[in-house]
Amino acid sequence: REERRKKLYEACDLAANFFHNCLLKTSFGKVGLEYLKKRGLTDETIEKFKLGFAPDGWDKLYKAFRERGIEESILIELNLIRKNEKGQAYDFFRNRVMFPIMDGKGRVVGFGGRVMDDSTPKYLNSPECQIFEKGKILFAFDKAYKSIREHKQAILVEGYMDVISAHNKGVTNVVASLGTAYTKDHGHILMRQADEIILAYDMDGAGRQAAARAIELLQNTDFKVRVLAMPDGKDPDDYVRNHGGQAFRELVEKAVKPLDYLLSESLIKHDTNEAEGKQAVMQDIFPFIANIHSQTVRDDALKALALPLWLDNSTIFRYFRNYT
Ligand code: UTP
Ligand code: MN
Ligand code: MN
Ligand code: MN
Ligand code: MN
Repeated sequence: REERRKKLYEACDLAANFFHNCLLKTSFGKVGLEYLKKRGLTDETIEKFKLGFAPDGWDKLYKAFRERGIEESILIELNLIRKNEKGQAYDFFRNRVMFPIMDGKGRVVGFGGRVMDDSTPKYLNSPECQIFEKGKILFAFDKAYKSIREHKQAILVEGYMDVISAHNKGVTNVVASLGTAYTKDHGHILMRQADEIILAYDMDGAGRQAAARAIELLQNTDFKVRVLAMPDGKDPDDYVRNHGGQAFRELVEKAVKPLDYLLSESLIKHDTNEAEGKQAVMQDIFPFIANIHSQTVRDDALKALALPLWLDNSTIFRYFRNYT
């Protein structure tokens, strides 16, 4: 069984090298390299993240790996190849730029592959396997942990390119929880290095939902949490590319406490000149406040609703008692 794990790690590492080599050393990899350059990545960043290219064609990786004597069952377990109805093997990742996923020790355990146009699915990802548990992996943690420790702060983003763009511009305490939402295990990984987590998710529906869930999971933990609202641009990658690393850092400094974030999100949606609007905002915020363990913090949170809702403290407290 240990032997098997070792083979899985070896095949993953070999695949990362294969893709990386295709990107940098082959004529058919040029489209991939151009794509990554177009997105502003330097050679150094491409090296650091060992980015790659999965060639077009049905079985280039399969053939190369068979020649090296890699067992088919290993490739299937890693989902690097699949079989069609006729039993013919074909490469899972084709004609995509490749993002190797490393575990905390820097070992390759999986891949994300992106199309270079608008076709779907935009990303394909390795499924979980014996050596790859998504909930326990933070993308780029192996590259970010020193910086996270230095800053006592981790910036949590959604996507591969958000992480890579940030590192590309010198903001290196950035990691992503891939495909899965933030989990308690992610917290355990970060706990040893960081006091503070900055949530910098996309400003779209999915990102907002993910932020709300993460806020809930991080409530009453030892982490300080703040949420970053991108003034423009859809995600951190867009922002960093348009404004640079320094501007992104300044944005991080201005990130707000979860309550202020949830409140501003709710105030956008509801008209607080109307009684129903005030009610709706309270309905949005009360679950969060009810979850606060400390009574004084809870009371402060309730008082913070008074001003934006144009209600006095006693009214808010009365509504809250009725709610709980
Ligand atoms: P996004 O749709 O925000 O993509 O998904 P992105 O990271 O900004 O990608 P670019 O900038 O267009 O290249 C956020 C993350 O969700 C996962 C990926 O991990 C992605 O980085 N995702 C998204 C998938 O796994 N599959 C998809 O088809 C889309
Ligand atoms: Mn290299
Ligand atoms: Mn998104
Ligand atoms: Mn995005
Ligand atoms: Mn993006």
